[in-house]
Amino acid sequence: MFSIKGDIIHTPEKDNFAIHENSYIFIDNGKVAEISSSPKENIPVCDFTGKLVIPSFSDIHTHAPQYENIGIGYYLELLPWLETYTFPAESKFSDTEYAVTIYKKFIHDLWLFGTFHSCVFATVFKDSTDKLFELFERSRLYAYIGKVNMDRNSAASLSETTENSVSDTLYFAEKYSSSDRVKFIVTPRFVPSVTGKLMTKLADIAEKYDLPVQSHLNENPSEIEWVKALHPEIDSFTQVYEHFGLLRKNKTIMAHSVHTSEQELEILKKYGTTIAHCPESNMNLASGIMPLRRNLDYGIDVALASDISAGSSLDMRRQIVSCIQLSKLYHRKHPEHTPLSLSESFYLATKGSRNFFTDTGSFEIGNSFDALIIESENTTLAPTERLEKFIYSVDGKITNRYLNGKELTFDL
Ligand code: GUN
Ligand code: FE
Repeated sequence: MFSIKGDIIHTPEKDNFAIHENSYIFIDNGKVAEISSSPKENIPVCDFTGKLVIPSFSDIHTHAPQYENIGIGYYLELLPWLETYTFPAESKFSDTEYAVTIYKKFIHDLWLFGTFHSCVFATVFKDSTDKLFELFERSRLYAYIGKVNMDRNSAASLSETTENSVSDTLYFAEKYSSSDRVKFIVTPRFVPSVTGKLMTKLADIAEKYDLPVQSHLNENPSEIEWVKALHPEIDSFTQVYEHFGLLRKNKTIMAHSVHTSEQELEILKKYGTTIAHCPESNMNLASGIMPLRRNLDYGIDVALASDISAGSSLDMRRQIVSCIQLSKLYHRKHPEHTPLSLSESFYLATKGSRNFFTDTGSFEIGNSFDALIIESENTTLAPTERLEKFIYSVDGKITNRYLNGKELTFDL
């Protein structure tokens, strides 16, 4: 056992920060054992007096192969952006050597920004996706990684046959079925990229291996029209996933959900689907403003996500800030939807992913001690004000990182 001394701030509940100023957090076997205002005899102390101790972040939806494309092509909306910039960028990942250089940079920056848990889209390519698993495993970061499935409407350089898509998915399902740190997640890109036949087969694999599923939903009006045209017999985008068995109870992540009806929300709630809210991405591609307050009031699980490279920063602080800012703009037009507070947005970036990463994101007893130590320049401010400044990126830097109670350095 050892303890860490500092100004401890976390959000066990979303509505308020729990603040333990100048206190000790005791760590036993990598897990939080106690928080106390006094030390214990014979228990060593790592003294971070005057620094903040906060939980590490989680990013519930991002695309590692798009990391090089941040900032490019945001004059386009989703569908032409995918065709013009994203599919060509992902095509390069048939080259495993190239993939390793980008993936290393991506994982380095997750570490740098203090995001130790993430749900990641790779590409259709088996070999470079396998490398991504290996690199994550070596980095000690936690992740769900998906080999992307696309057997219709994709660029020639990215397309795969239904049979290949199924056999490669089975390869990952089997290889990583018992892994602990880096796990496989079934990843149909979105309805327009995946035939009904493939969706059915992916649902069977997910069922057989008890795997989670991640995809995109109701991001952009043209995308939604396209889904209607592809499946005229099904009432909504959400029901297409339901129809093909891809909404797995408490094991599904749907990114965006910007334009979702109450009827669809009811379905998402029934399946315990987590919505990945991607505020920067939704601004960059002019996708729209998700009615976040409505979704939270409805009892839907929501977690924050960078959605690189539609989102333009892997730093979760940027998503926390954008989330609050968008909720304020939405509130101006819809006064009944109150804006999010800082503690609520912080919670969505730390504990929002709790259905996928169960023992991290806050310092509740028994959780893994996954933490960031923050040094501020202006040490005269109260701890919450130092946290506010750190989140808004104007003062404060991460000096130490802990994962499972151990200092986490980077060498890949
Ligand atoms: N919908 C299907 N693929 C993608 C993607 O790569 N990024 C975003 N933002 N939406 C998608
Ligand atoms: Fe995405």
